[in-house]
Amino acid sequence: MLRLNSADPTASQNAYARRPQPSSAAPPLVLQPMTSQFDVVIIGAGAAGLFCAGLAGQLGLKVLLLDHSDRVAEKIRISGGGHCNFTNLDTTASNFLGDNPHFCRSALSRYSPSDFVLLLQKHQIAYHEKHKGQLFCDRSAEDIIRMLLTECAVGGVTRWQPCAVTAIRIAASRHDGTSTGSYEIDSEHGTIRSAAVVVATGGLSIPKIGATDFGYRIARQFDLPIVALRPALVPLTFDAQAWAPFAELAGLSLPVQLETGTKKDKISFLEDLLFTHRGLSGPGVLQISSYWQPGTPVRINLTPQHDLVTLLSQAKASSRKLVANELAATLPSRLADAWVAQGPSLGHDWRRPINEASDKAVTALAERLRRWELTPNGTEGYAKAEVTAGGVDTRCLSSQTMESTQPGLYFVGEVVDITGWLGGYNFQWAWASGFACAQALAAKLLPARTTTASD
Ligand code: FDA
Repeated sequence: MLRLNSADPTASQNAYARRPQPSSAAPPLVLQPMTSQFDVVIIGAGAAGLFCAGLAGQLGLKVLLLDHSDRVAEKIRISGGGHCNFTNLDTTASNFLGDNPHFCRSALSRYSPSDFVLLLQKHQIAYHEKHKGQLFCDRSAEDIIRMLLTECAVGGVTRWQPCAVTAIRIAASRHDGTSTGSYEIDSEHGTIRSAAVVVATGGLSIPKIGATDFGYRIARQFDLPIVALRPALVPLTFDAQAWAPFAELAGLSLPVQLETGTKKDKISFLEDLLFTHRGLSGPGVLQISSYWQPGTPVRINLTPQHDLVTLLSQAKASSRKLVANELAATLPSRLADAWVAQGPSLGHDWRRPINEASDKAVTALAERLRRWELTPNGTEGYAKAEVTAGGVDTRCLSSQTMESTQPGLYFVGEVVDITGWLGGYNFQWAWASGFACAQALAAKLLPARTTTASD
């Protein structure tokens, strides 16, 4: 079995790939499956899996990290426009949703954004704050991947990639009927025996870069409940006919306030909105999408920084400009034109000089811009979603350790029913849950190993 080479942390550590390859003339090399023994097998070499593996290895555990993709951490690579928004300085449990968002408190308090920043500083990775506490790499997201691989190398983590897992089962009990307390994992590289399994296979978003439902299937296999899955941090779509007047605004972006939910569960964000051909996107829409329930409306204030009723009333008293031209002082002119053009269908003629418009028409215009209510017909789905909301039910997980009610089976990262807001929170959850899990694995498995060794 090959171990990671700290001198070249990005090199693929596939035990098979390193064997001499037969030339086209040579007889095919027959690969014998191996049975291997590890303290812990971590499935999924994404953010949470890589981070947890490095720590667990450095704490003294014999760790195998495997992933079915041939490249690690594809989501880190493409995140933050290639610069990875790796944490948010203002992280609190209120930036997360799930059936029980309080679940993330313990892990977040034990591994904070500044802990991760210290790790970056140790690796001399330059970063900057962009917006509202969001930290990005100056150079490239690859810096984070290289850092995590180096940490794995320091921890002596073995990595198999690409390597699919075909089955997981509890290892057969001893002759006296007592449980061995370990797992058997069938993989493309043979069967592995380990005392613990960590599922770090992430969510369903962006299947074309390796996302699968593997983690949820494993949970179901061990009778662990799943909170209903749905795409989150995702653009919203609208009925094509209803959207036709706005489709031509595709590409236009402006700061807005968005709101969804009713009195008790109302939530709002002040962020940018982006018009698309099929609907709405941009940071504000992605944020609200995580809370949006199908069939319910989203309310948008298109002029959150202005008191439009007062502005338009003043203009009406002093200006002869067209309504659209007056609006263009506070809104992008393309949006002002599209808005005014809707007037007739709403019973108002807004295509006239503002001094000729009735008070009622002017107030209606300002009100509609302040409270544009529209009901999406869906989302762009997992192909465009940044994350999956829902996941392994936190009621069957320990918030201290991430161990499930199935002893020895742990879940970390996005596969858990904890979803962060846009802005670095999801990676912070990956680090914090990976940290809690690695600490717990060491606390549980190292003493057991010492006892077994001295028996
Ligand atoms: P992650 O998805 O990172 O890793 C899962 C791993 O499991 C993958 O390597 C996958 O190949 C592997 N796997 C899956 N099925 C498997 C199987 N059957 N067998 C073996 N391996 C399997 N967040 C943030 O905080 N800041 C940001 O800037 C962004 N930006 C961003 C952009 C885009 C386009 C997306 C899609 C997402 C983001 N995110 C983000 C979200 C963030 O990427 C995400 O929440 C974390 O990567 C989750 O980390 P995990 O380790 O849980 O899963």
